[in-house]
Amino acid sequence: MTEHSTILVTGGSGYIGAQLVPKLLAAGCGVRVLDAQFFPNGLDRLLENRRLEVVRGDIRDKPIVEDSLRGIDTVIHLAAVANDPSFNLDPEVSRSINIDCLPHLARSAKRSGCQRFIYASSASVYGINAEPVVDETQPCMPVTDYSRYKAEGEKIVFDLTDSSFETVAVRAATVCGWSPRQRFDLTVNMLTASALARGQITVFGGDQFRPSVHIGDLCRLYTVLAQRDSLDTLSGRAINVGYTNHTVSEIATQVKDVVDSYFNVNVPISTTATDDVRSYRLDSRLMREELGFNFVYAIRDAILEICDRWQSGWFNDSADVLTDPRYHNLLNIRVGDWSYALRSGPSC
Ligand SMILES: NC(=O)c1ccc[n+]([C@@H]2O[C@H](COP(=O)([O-])OP(=O)(O)OC[C@H]3O[C@@H](n4cnc5c(N)ncnc54)[C@H](O)[C@@H]3O)[C@@H](O)[C@H]2O)c1
Repeated sequence: MTEHSTILVTGGSGYIGAQLVPKLLAAGCGVRVLDAQFFPNGLDRLLENRRLEVVRGDIRDKPIVEDSLRGIDTVIHLAAVANDPSFNLDPEVSRSINIDCLPHLARSAKRSGCQRFIYASSASVYGINAEPVVDETQPCMPVTDYSRYKAEGEKIVFDLTDSSFETVAVRAATVCGWSPRQRFDLTVNMLTASALARGQITVFGGDQFRPSVHIGDLCRLYTVLAQRDSLDTLSGRAINVGYTNHTVSEIATQVKDVVDSYFNVNVPISTTATDDVRSYRLDSRLMREELGFNFVYAIRDAILEICDRWQSGWFNDSADVLTDPRYHNLLNIRVGDWSYALRSGPSC
């Protein structure tokens, strides 16, 4: 791969994509985004860039997918119904997006001469694991359908691996930090939004481990994976990407510390029960050893940059960021026409 590669980013208008696409452009790549734009488009400020092409379309639409793959060297496949509650709202539709159309997308990519397929998996594939820390040799034991299909998706992609078609699955921890398409339904971001908007933090459960990674580091990693000459021994494999392994209570304390100091306040933390039992700790040594990749952002950076945006008035057009559907995938699907758009989308 070279800096002149052309990369297809499915789901590139979303939370991660809106931070990743500018990084790929800055690295010299051409970028085509294929996204149904179910959320406010996080790429609006980049649309003048002549190396960026944004296609509004559904990954279940075979002709659009095949067209979008023309001239593409690498696919970064982010498009998905991207959390458990959203997935569970309409499991059949979610399945059609997260797994049923993947064989067509990946096979078409290979057939069209694309040389690398980078799949956005999730560390949630590990589920509840008795091991103190899980590395990539541990079995996947997903406890939700969203995670189960992430794990199945890895296999579909890996099965196509050969010397002309490199594949890798990125098992990302829960992502945190600011993006032009902000999500406040992710642990660190949600606790920070709660401290800022409500002046209090409510922790659900608290003892579950929730590994986190800053969005800036995850996007740096995707860029490295897209730009390397070869994936070498990583091809056909999954890699863990988690910066820290904290419990939700520990994250809440970090949020409190940063927000208290930033705004000179004293945000109380309360705890309530949850049925969300997912808990795992990630070992990300493979990524460090094989790619020489090191994290540069801490969780505090994510909290701080959301405070900065809050202070600068970025979220002022929202009555309440904790209930504004733009920032919450589940609420967006419920109130918007997304559900209709998803259901009426082309089937694979
Ligand atoms: N955010 C996290 O903490 C996290 C952690 C691990 C893995 N991931 C994975 O990373 C990927 C991106 O996550 P995100 O946080 O940016 O989510 P997001 O919901 O912000 O972005 C997903 C994008 O996919 C698009 N999309 C959904 N269905 C589509 C379809 N049928 N056709 C075309 N586009 C479609 C949406 O419009 C959206 O822009 C997902 O696959 C998610 O499962 C995310």
